[in-house]
Amino acid sequence: MTDTAHPTAAHLFDLSDNQLRARASLKWSTVEPDVLPAWVAEMDVMLASPIIDTLQNALLRHDAGYPGESDDVVQAFTSFAHDRWDWHIEPDHISFHVDAATAASKLMRHYAGPDRSVLIMPPVYNRFYDWLAGSGVKPVEVPLTDVPNGGFFDLDGIEAGLNAGTKVILLCNPHNPLGRVFSQHELSELAELAHRYDAVVLSDEIHAPMVYQGVEFTPWLTVSDAARNTGIALHTATKSWNFAGLKCGIAIRSATGPWPAELDPTMTRTDTGFWGLLATEASFRDSRPWIDTVRAHFQEQTQHLTKLVAEHLPGVTFHPPQASFLAWLNFRDTELTEEPADYFLREARVALSPGVNFGDAGRGYARLNMGTSTERLERIIAAMGVAWPPR
Ligand SMILES: Cc1ncc(COP(=O)(O)O)c(C=O)c1O
Repeated sequence: MTDTAHPTAAHLFDLSDNQLRARASLKWSTVEPDVLPAWVAEMDVMLASPIIDTLQNALLRHDAGYPGESDDVVQAFTSFAHDRWDWHIEPDHISFHVDAATAASKLMRHYAGPDRSVLIMPPVYNRFYDWLAGSGVKPVEVPLTDVPNGGFFDLDGIEAGLNAGTKVILLCNPHNPLGRVFSQHELSELAELAHRYDAVVLSDEIHAPMVYQGVEFTPWLTVSDAARNTGIALHTATKSWNFAGLKCGIAIRSATGPWPAELDPTMTRTDTGFWGLLATEASFRDSRPWIDTVRAHFQEQTQHLTKLVAEHLPGVTFHPPQASFLAWLNFRDTELTEEPADYFLREARVALSPGVNFGDAGRGYARLNMGTSTERLERIIAAMGVAWPPR
């Protein structure tokens, strides 16, 4: 059933603290009762109604076995990619996995060269470090440059890493935590380098459905021939439609690029979460009004946050993201000397993600989750403001 009625953000995010504290998932259930959580990337939102209907129907059918046919979910995803990003994907170039993490780990294990290393560009999604460790590979860190102004590839540093033998680049685009959407030009430069050094690019694009209006997202496999020859893309609906616990990762190849046999759909058919797969189909096919409302809300939250930070946290800066619901707050030019997330948890009872979790390049920063109502975002920043400047 298509969700034709445009839900409003005021309605979708209208959940009280008590309702959210009753949730058993990670963000709210693991903080103290007086703490406002703004850490892990879960949203304080109601699920899209087509997802609820799909899951309720599965429950009513007592239907919780292994995943069956995937033609419909493949069709849902390929149409979404075509309509939103002008990306033409062959149906048999897709396979489903437990989640993005599992697919990435398999790929890193497969493609890491003799030195068992993978190149990452911090500050970057904290769990990349765990994925690498779990895959038995070591990080080669090439920090993004000029992070206060958005974050850019250090092409010389990347070339040095590839020249030293690293065979895999784990790219994050749209970027967590910076919210950066890399341009076609930037990506094509990276693709040329990867191609020259015969490296594989794993492009984690799971935040892409939340790219803001007016921002162009270029999927890796549409960047250039060099990108197609080097890349595998990772997508999910679970992040953007907020059902990470249901599990479903999507890996996409090109006709000319790398693709190990263990990622083939015939091998991974029953790997993914069955309900995750059902919800993924309901997302990409039937829940476009929901994601459009949600991403417009995040775009507005970004503008609102700029004003709130200026008012309550003078001296703190952040570069407005172009996608998703994460803000990378910069405390480096302030008097705060301790880890910002520790300080605000103790003094403001607000839980942020510590910047250092995103690599050494994250020291002096904290990641704020603004995937909540405007009212709660205001309360979070006001609470931080009471503890500001540091005593
Ligand atoms: C960039 C990025 N990749 C992957 C994930 C996790 O994806 P999954 O739950 O499918 O492993 C996240 C979660 O926030 C993320 O931000």
